[in-house]
Amino acid sequence: MKLAIFASGTGSNFEALYQASSADELSAPIELLVCDRPGARVVEKAEKAGVQTLVLNPKSFSSKVDYEKAILQVLLEKEIEFIVLAGYMRLIGPTLLEHFPKRMINIHPSLLPAFPGLHAIEKAYEAGIEETGVTIHFVDEGMDTGPVLAQESVAIREGETLESLEARIHAVEHHLYPKTIEKVIKEWRGVK
Ligand code: GRF
Repeated sequence: MKLAIFASGTGSNFEALYQASSADELSAPIELLVCDRPGARVVEKAEKAGVQTLVLNPKSFSSKVDYEKAILQVLLEKEIEFIVLAGYMRLIGPTLLEHFPKRMINIHPSLLPAFPGLHAIEKAYEAGIEETGVTIHFVDEGMDTGPVLAQESVAIREGETLESLEARIHAVEHHLYPKTIEKVIKEWRGVK
């Protein structure tokens, strides 16, 4: 099953997934990186890893539908079967969703349904609660709303800095994402 990763930013999850794939902990090849932000660090990481990149600026398309159609064309050409969102800062529209039913997943740095959307780690930190965490879920048309596949909690330690919490959450993401993707892919293969 060929994977495409969609990302907009730093790409630490891209890196973790690429490493898992190289170490055979992820039994599906990463065939493509789709990025909506020219110049994003994740693009550099993909190029270094030798993964093909598709960098499209949504502003150069007349509509979201046209933007997603351009992506879809490449996904179909490359026979991509599964999409992994890893810090892709954009809602997925019906053009892509319809082609990948239950074959598109996202990672979010909170225990959903708590703190969907932007700045989830910061919001949890400022809320003064005792734990937050990481959620992996199927993608639907909402913002961080699809059916949950995996969650792992992270305690917010007394007196810890936001930076420390962020680092611990990212560390959880980097092991939980490859593991969960592998599980979903295996299940999907079983029912195919
Ligand atoms: C991660 O925290 C992920 O949960 C969220 O965006 C962030 C992406 O980080 N959706 P990176 O670009 O993979 O480092």
